[in-house]
Amino acid sequence: MHGITVLGIESTCDETAAAVIRDGRLISNVVASSMLEHARYGGVIPEIASRAHAESFVPVVSKALADANLDLSDVDAIAVSAGPGLAGCLAVGVSGAKSLAWAAKKPIYGINHVIGHIAVTQLQFGAFPEDTMALIVSGGHTSLLHVRDVARHVDVVGTTLDDAAGECFDKIARLLGFPYPGGPHIDKHARTGDPHAIRVPKGLTQGKSAAKHPYDFSFSGVKTAVARWIEGEEAAGHAIPVDDVCASLADSVADVLAEKAMAGCAQYGSDTLIVGGGFSANSQLREKLQQVGEREGVQVRIPRIALCTDNGAMVAMLGSNLLASGIAPSSADFPIDSAMP
Ligand code: KG4
Ligand code: ZN
Repeated sequence: MHGITVLGIESTCDETAAAVIRDGRLISNVVASSMLEHARYGGVIPEIASRAHAESFVPVVSKALADANLDLSDVDAIAVSAGPGLAGCLAVGVSGAKSLAWAAKKPIYGINHVIGHIAVTQLQFGAFPEDTMALIVSGGHTSLLHVRDVARHVDVVGTTLDDAAGECFDKIARLLGFPYPGGPHIDKHARTGDPHAIRVPKGLTQGKSAAKHPYDFSFSGVKTAVARWIEGEEAAGHAIPVDDVCASLADSVADVLAEKAMAGCAQYGSDTLIVGGGFSANSQLREKLQQVGEREGVQVRIPRIALCTDNGAMVAMLGSNLLASGIAPSSADFPIDSAMP
């Protein structure tokens, strides 16, 4: 990675972000978020997010270059998230990045955002050991991956069959009256609640379906059970013990994620687990993963929170890996893929 400078651009959801990585080190990192504009709608509105990207793209990219003391002509390549994400949002970032690459005659890499969440952990923990497992958890994706080589070979070991963990938290948070995104509010209230106050199911951990899907996740049953419980209590005129609801939900979700990740490590003989995605900011999950990691002899690499959420550094880092591995850049007409696997 020596002598390599990559500009990374991210626009999959509600963050317009750009960062520069030089010689494997982060030298600038700029994020503009439209999150507050979505808060009153209870979720990300694609049209609003796309417009925000169109407004922020040039200011964010130019600030990332200025903070790095560089011109576009100084970078060796541009990397941009090509999916998965909201189509309109991806279209803005990818069109912008392609135009920059074309004008400055630079190679461009359209990268997979989810793999970017894995790649970015190298900034904090260094290169990956062989046979690493990765657990990526966010509002839109929950995946267990086996990383042979982050630039060339990543296999999907498990994924969510319905809702992502963050989505489940956001929906319950909405019922409890928290603004979007509700995940961090549940985290905060869970700290003072009783995790065993309410019985919350653990999706795909028991019985035939668990045997069939040992590494897959299901959070819609959890969501429905908690929602029904809240509705029942409200109908009975009881006050909702918000902290206990949050703690019980957080405990169940963290348990399932941690146990399945460890089972994956055992199956693949991996003693390292990379963790990423916006939901990995969750304190109950972080604590549980460290606990089970110690128990199972697995080193758990959870990056600092600024690296967990969507940013340009994850894109620039994966772009650096691709360039350093001698992988050919994307063609000028590479597509966006909102459902990229
Ligand atoms: O990766 P990310 O920033 O965006 C997506 O690609 O989806 O993840 C955002 C998700 C949201 O669902 C948000 O509620 C959740 O991550 N989240 C959390 C916490 N911080 C963010 N969930 C629980 N606890 C947190 N501390
Ligand atoms: Zn993400």
